[in-house]
Amino acid sequence: MVEAEAQGPVVEIGRRYLEKALDILAREYGRALEYARAVVADGLGDVAVALLGGRPIGAEIFYKIRLAVDLCVHYYVAVLREYRRRGVGKILITTVERACKSDAYAATTTEDNAAAKALFGSLGYVGYRWRELDKKTRDVLLRATCGYDDDMIFLKGPAPREVAAEVGDAERFGHRECYLVWLGVRRADV
Ligand SMILES: CC(C)(COP(=O)(O)OP(=O)(O)OC[C@H]1O[C@@H](n2cnc3c(N)ncnc32)[C@H](O)[C@@H]1OP(=O)(O)O)[C@@H](O)C(=O)NCCC(=O)NCCS
Repeated sequence: MVEAEAQGPVVEIGRRYLEKALDILAREYGRALEYARAVVADGLGDVAVALLGGRPIGAEIFYKIRLAVDLCVHYYVAVLREYRRRGVGKILITTVERACKSDAYAATTTEDNAAAKALFGSLGYVGYRWRELDKKTRDVLLRATCGYDDDMIFLKGPAPREVAAEVGDAERFGHRECYLVWLGVRRADV
């Protein structure tokens, strides 16, 4: 093992890493990556990559959105299969938390994603099924995360109702980064 690998992964942040990040994320997310590309292209989203000896082994796309408080959303995150269960996901998420400097942090996932649930649970996030939340809270958080294909939101910080007490930028985000991208993907598919 070369010395840089022995030292473990380092996480770098910056939009210049977008293509490297998309290479990794594409293995898990396919067409859904259009949402990741759009949020970065619009200047709202940012990119984190985990590098081991200079090789990208994990990646995340994240953004910060103003609701009643500032919410940092872990939008897309993945670690290459052969490097999983070694703490890389944790390093990515905690590095992004420090970069975001937000009041609250969120990620959405499906109920059957044991790895994502363990990752966010181990870092102090609390999981809520969308149907557990009251309508207004659910509506604001769905728009703010574009989490329509997922069943759950993991949140760290204030309670969901407090985070979503004001719609803030969620409506604009939901329209521009979620609905319009969805339309584009749909048109490309027909
Ligand atoms: C989710 C994912 C990013 C986790 O990355 P990772 O580098 O393997 O995660 P870590 O090694 O940092 O593990 C963090 C914690 O989750 C646990 N964990 C990770 N994968 C797990 C699994 N498949 N089952 C149960 N626990 C798991 C680890 O044991 C660790 O817990 P601990 O700190 O209490 O020991 C990775 O599995 C992945 O890329 N999945 C595909 C894409 C995806 O689902 N992204 C998340 C969508 S929200």
